[in-house]
Amino acid sequence: MKVSRISDHIHYIGVNDRTTSRFEAMWPLPYGVSYNSYLITGADKTAIVDGVEACYALRQIEHIRDIIGDRKPDYLIINHMEPDHSGAIKMLRDAYPDIVIVGNAQTLAMVNGFYGVADKTLAVKDGDTLSLGADVNLRFTLTPMVHWPETMMTYFVEEETLFSGDAFGCFGALAGAVVDSDMDTSRYFPEMVRYYSSIVGKYGLFVQKALRKFDNVAVRTLCTTHGPVWRDRISEVVGIYDRLSLYEPLDNGVTVIYGSMYGNTELMAETAAEALAEAGIREIDVHNASVSDLSFMLSDIFRHRGLVIAAPTYSDTLFPPVRNVMEAIATRGVKNRDVLLIGSCTWGQKAVGAMNSYIESIGAVSAAEPIAFKQAATAVQLQQCRDAAGALAAKLLQ
Ligand SMILES: Cc1cc2nc3c(=O)[nH]c(=O)nc-3n(C[C@H](O)[C@H](O)[C@H](O)COP(=O)(O)O)c2cc1C
Ligand SMILES: [Fe+2]
Ligand SMILES: [Fe+2]
Repeated sequence: MKVSRISDHIHYIGVNDRTTSRFEAMWPLPYGVSYNSYLITGADKTAIVDGVEACYALRQIEHIRDIIGDRKPDYLIINHMEPDHSGAIKMLRDAYPDIVIVGNAQTLAMVNGFYGVADKTLAVKDGDTLSLGADVNLRFTLTPMVHWPETMMTYFVEEETLFSGDAFGCFGALAGAVVDSDMDTSRYFPEMVRYYSSIVGKYGLFVQKALRKFDNVAVRTLCTTHGPVWRDRISEVVGIYDRLSLYEPLDNGVTVIYGSMYGNTELMAETAAEALAEAGIREIDVHNASVSDLSFMLSDIFRHRGLVIAAPTYSDTLFPPVRNVMEAIATRGVKNRDVLLIGSCTWGQKAVGAMNSYIESIGAVSAAEPIAFKQAATAVQLQQCRDAAGALAAKLLQ
């Protein structure tokens, strides 16, 4: 049986990208990424759901021909207009001049704006349906800001299959198989947290609104735009997205983020990590903010309840690599974290105040008084750091 066959009516026609090194020109792709696209065939009509990135247009068209030969797909349903899914629209229209582009009003305005395509479109509203024959009925649900304003989801009623767009997606190209039951999925879970925290992390509230719209809808198959098609592990995947979008950590571990030019602040970060381990914390991730990629730091920050941030004062403000992390945390409105701040300086302490204002702006919970020190930490200050980390550990282990 072809691995691209998801059911009698649904085939996978997406592609793997193992060439792009940074998604959205920012986020590293050590295991690649897939742009998932699906072909749904009903008794009367055929629809493509979701598209692929521009340079994979021909590959997608080959996949379509593989399944329906010279028949022409009738509809292209666009759940999300970010160009990783819409880039090939123009080429699809060239290959299939009569294909009708289906989207909501915002989608269709973007199709025109990005690709200059304005004819043969079908505008749908929240709750509208489209029939591909008596055996296939599709229903559209608007889910704005998961992850752009035009985003919607398509539900195949008879097969209880949800085409969810970026929601429930993850980094990591597919390795042969498409459906979770046909593969070892373990590699995708860390990449799901990293994808969520980098890409969708700011829109937790909207993910929650979208989830609530499907509270009473049975979903047997979850077809996202990135990563495996979920069937066996749907509840686990939805659970992860639910927790992450509530800004609830996945465990009681600690992320230690530090910046340091000459090692003095680093020693405090190392000391905090040691004290956390000695107090019994098992999940500890330590990042040098000048070296670690932002997406891996964010992923750990979304995962762990504890957060230690140590940074020097630099030109009367916060050391820039750490400021970058703090801004990313503030942009995403990360909440529900127990935080310990450590600031260093040589002549005028500014790091602690700067870090504090970020933390206060997002309402995270501080576990202890910030620790401020000058030049090299004294034995007393190192002990103060141990004690504060110990108190943080005790709170996390409660
Ligand atoms: C380019 C540069 C600018 C700095 N600006 C300040 C500053 O404005 N105020 C201050 O108190 N210390 C400043 N420092 C000193 C650092 O905060 C200092 O290195 C501190 O002791 C942290 O040490 P670490 O890099 O060994 O972790 C600066 C250091 C450098 C290299
Ligand atoms: Fe997107
Ligand atoms: Fe996407």
